[in-house]
Amino acid sequence: KTVFVLNGPNLNLLGTREPAVYGAQTLTDVQNLCAQAAARHGLALRFHQSNHEGQLIDWIHEAGQLHAQGELAGLIFNAGAYTHTSIALMDAVKGTGVPLLELHISNVHAREAFRHHSYLSPVARAVVCGLGVPGYALAVDAVAQW
Ligand code: DQA
Repeated sequence: KTVFVLNGPNLNLLGTREPAVYGAQTLTDVQNLCAQAAARHGLALRFHQSNHEGQLIDWIHEAGQLHAQGELAGLIFNAGAYTHTSIALMDAVKGTGVPLLELHISNVHAREAFRHHSYLSPVARAVVCGLGVPGYALAVDAVAQW
């Protein structure tokens, strides 16, 4: 099976973007962590980042095709700020039925009020937030049990 890891807007800036909030590790470090965790569980990994909402939707649809074939372990998705704005991403998850683990590096509930609402949480099987970059590896561990 395949674990899909999607990253939304500005996550390409990890490492230099607000390091006090998001840490010093880069998206390449995140990808390496995910690859190691996936390999431990015998899962294939698809790992992507885009700043474009439509591209993220297209990848959710691809994850949906794997799901329909019984080949998807789960979708781990850090949608960045689209979490708080995007009905279209929520609809893509709903429409494909992919098992979603919503992930945030920071504890969004301890931050500004506009980060407290998520369009994705109601369609997520699980939510991980505030564990930092190591949260990605733990999320892969969790999805491997689904
Ligand atoms: C984030 C939290 C979001 O509120 C923010 O817009 C991000 C990153 C996180 O990983 O903590 O871009 O999803």
